[in-house]
Amino acid sequence: MTTAPSSTAAAARSNARPFLHGTEFAAAADAMREGQYGHGVLTELFEQDVARFLGVPDVVAVSSGTMALHIALLAAGIGPGDEVIVPSQTFAATIQAIVACGAHPRFIEINPDTLCIESQSVLEAITSDTRAVMPVLFGGRAVDLNAVHDVLGERDITVIEDAAHAFGSYTATARVGATRTALTCFSFGPIKNLTCLEGGALVPRTAHEADIARQLRLLGINQPQSERISTTSYTVGAFGLRGTMSSIHAAVGSAQLDQFPLIEAKRKNLWRAYAAGLRQLDGVALVDLDVDRTVPFNCVVRVPHRDDVHRILHQQGIGVGVHYPPNHLQPAFSPWYRSLPVTETVAGEMLSLPFHPYMSIMDVQHVVAALGRAVTKVRTDPAAEAS
Ligand SMILES: Cc1ncc(COP(=O)(O)O)c(C=O)c1O
Repeated sequence: MTTAPSSTAAAARSNARPFLHGTEFAAAADAMREGQYGHGVLTELFEQDVARFLGVPDVVAVSSGTMALHIALLAAGIGPGDEVIVPSQTFAATIQAIVACGAHPRFIEINPDTLCIESQSVLEAITSDTRAVMPVLFGGRAVDLNAVHDVLGERDITVIEDAAHAFGSYTATARVGATRTALTCFSFGPIKNLTCLEGGALVPRTAHEADIARQLRLLGINQPQSERISTTSYTVGAFGLRGTMSSIHAAVGSAQLDQFPLIEAKRKNLWRAYAAGLRQLDGVALVDLDVDRTVPFNCVVRVPHRDDVHRILHQQGIGVGVHYPPNHLQPAFSPWYRSLPVTETVAGEMLSLPFHPYMSIMDVQHVVAALGRAVTKVRTDPAAEAS
């Protein structure tokens, strides 16, 4: 039976929602009035804003997080026959970016408590074909591969971080993206910590890598847009993609960035409220994301009888979800299947709870209480709920 709608239940209906502060509307309208809809001055200002925020010399804005991953792989020289070590437990975008380069994924296990990969599993998976490692910063948590840093360096293996979830989070020493030991890729899609409505960015390690990434995002054209419009020709120097970020999306991103401390505080508070509530529930394990350093993107728990719990909560209008079905079991990636027992067990247990900055602490308590009732119900009578 569906619970009666109330303001509390209403916010918890969505698993995730874009969070706008209001200033984005005027910023987008101003950009539209300027009449420069493609990559333009506002895109370059957004790149500078993000670079300043992260404390890095340069950032390359692109059309999506998937495009950032694709361009980062190409900029690192990854191509046909190369192997990229990657968790299966990620969004399909991570794997499609690898396949789009002609490379292939080598799926590895995750730590079930964090859903992130660890150095030892990376070390064990390295082969003579390995050219890159792509850690996924699940939920926004930084992935520390320092223990294998030297081995990867000796073998010329590039670390390309899928930090789609992790904008604003910290490693032990700096913001994610600011360590310069990896090529870091962010998504600024609709529900991400920072949204451009759609968009992404990569943080290059060197000025040369930045040039390559800019050429790749503009169909292989060498000249920057600002020079191109004042000359009679241009040079297509290499293969390229159509991966530029529009001025309108960039304007939204810059407006969002001004308000980032508020987003950061809201997301941390919500996650901490969930952690406090979930501690009281038997049989529910919260996936840890190191909240002191992380701007949480989601709140994921592991529960027995997950499909039944999901159905009960869904029937009550609570926006639970599953992020993500594992990739090594997907038909498109079957050539690279390997047995991954930990990932497969976790994949049957994980449940994403409603998590977005429009939620209040009362909304969180409402979800935790409903989850507790659902878990008790399936524990005491699993057969009845499964039927
Ligand atoms: C882990 C992960 N990687 C990559 C992406 C791709 O980002 P985008 O949707 O901006 O292409 C996403 C998007 O949700 C994601 O969750």
